[in-house]
Amino acid sequence: MYRTPVGVLPDDFFFGCATSAYQIEGGIENDWAEWERQGRLHDSHARCGPATQHWERFVEDFDRLEEIGADAYRFSIEWARVEPSPGRFDEVAIQRYVRMTEDLVRRKIRPIITFLHFTHPPWFHTTCPWHADQGAPDRFALFVRRMMQALEERCQFFTVVNEPMVWLLGAYGVGVIPPGIKNLRFLALAAANLMRAYVRARHIIRAYAPDARCGIAHNVVRFAPDRSASPTDRWITHAVHHFYNHAIPEVLTHGHLSVGILPGNTYKHEIPEARGSLDFLGINYYSRIHIRFDPFRRMGKHRIWAFYDDREGQGVTDLGWEIHPRGLLSMLLDMSRYDVPLVVTENGLDDRDDTRRARYLYDHLQSVLEARRRGVDIRGYLHWSLLDNFEWLDAFEPRFGLFRVDYASQERTATKAAQLFKTIANTRMLPDKPPRMDRRPGEPKGVLPDAP
Ligand code: BGC
Repeated sequence: MYRTPVGVLPDDFFFGCATSAYQIEGGIENDWAEWERQGRLHDSHARCGPATQHWERFVEDFDRLEEIGADAYRFSIEWARVEPSPGRFDEVAIQRYVRMTEDLVRRKIRPIITFLHFTHPPWFHTTCPWHADQGAPDRFALFVRRMMQALEERCQFFTVVNEPMVWLLGAYGVGVIPPGIKNLRFLALAAANLMRAYVRARHIIRAYAPDARCGIAHNVVRFAPDRSASPTDRWITHAVHHFYNHAIPEVLTHGHLSVGILPGNTYKHEIPEARGSLDFLGINYYSRIHIRFDPFRRMGKHRIWAFYDDREGQGVTDLGWEIHPRGLLSMLLDMSRYDVPLVVTENGLDDRDDTRRARYLYDHLQSVLEARRRGVDIRGYLHWSLLDNFEWLDAFEPRFGLFRVDYASQERTATKAAQLFKTIANTRMLPDKPPRMDRRPGEPKGVLPDAP
């Protein structure tokens, strides 16, 4: 049933773009805005501020989506806008999100809503942080319920939480994003609460929209041992892969959460209510990471060294991430073990000169279609991102958009990849000839802070 000639988008396959509220809307007061004022971004003066003013310009941005033939759009609802202080809901903000959703539906663009894309209301971490026993899942449930009362059945697809693993590692592992606490036990407690919150949200969503399909957008990385013959590199790669790529889908499938990589340093939680709670699994894929482990030698501050490398000559992005489309194919095959439909909910690159995005889109979509040909139940592809946006710790330097944004004038300009996107959307096929990749020599980067 899922087999179609490679290069052809199957009829039931959706093809669109993804964004998140804080990265584009502008004018949001949340935990990140506070973090920025504390000088915690790479450039301590950088601020998200008005971002791309999408809050005011969403209609013209949706015109662009329509223009390029997108039939799906994933966006997030900013909790801080909806509930600026505990228990006080902002009806004007809620109605704006309803209008956005209605506008998409009217254009026959399938809305896919995320309720938590990294950011929290400013009061959240001091009132009921995820790692504490202070009712974080209940608070999240109230927010989701309030939104569902307003949205009713307008939206049928929900990637309820974005990249729980990325957020947990940033917030509680390396501690570089709010709340910025480095503590593995807290990380595990926060993970358990986040998973409980997901399950609660799914029940609420389905009470208001009984046919709705719920999942998460899960970041996966293709990990590879740096030295393929080294037993320690191979062992650590397997352990990292198992934890990073599988810990979260494992809980949502079987109810067992295990947090940690090294034996003797793991935390376990049982969450039976999470069993079988994925209606689909969203896959966010960007790159491959190489790993080296030398038990007797430190590399910089670390014993485990994780880094990007241009091993196959396909180039790296401006941020130094290896471009590795075959990794997406391997990861889709690997994630199909959960036996739920998959959707690529994010895939893209930062490409300031517009020299690599079109080829990146082509090659990754080819991997997706190849996975489908091999029998993986994969239902759609969403490019990250529709617009250039605020890229968290790196602020506005990286350019992830299909549409370039001139932040001074707020003018949007289509990239070459937007043209290719449109051709694919209109013909429902990959063109025979791949676009040219004008690869520039790039600098692959270390992943962990202070790695050599
Ligand atoms: C996140 C996005 C981010 C993108 C590129 C994903 O991890 O969901 O918010 O902009 O990667 O870094």
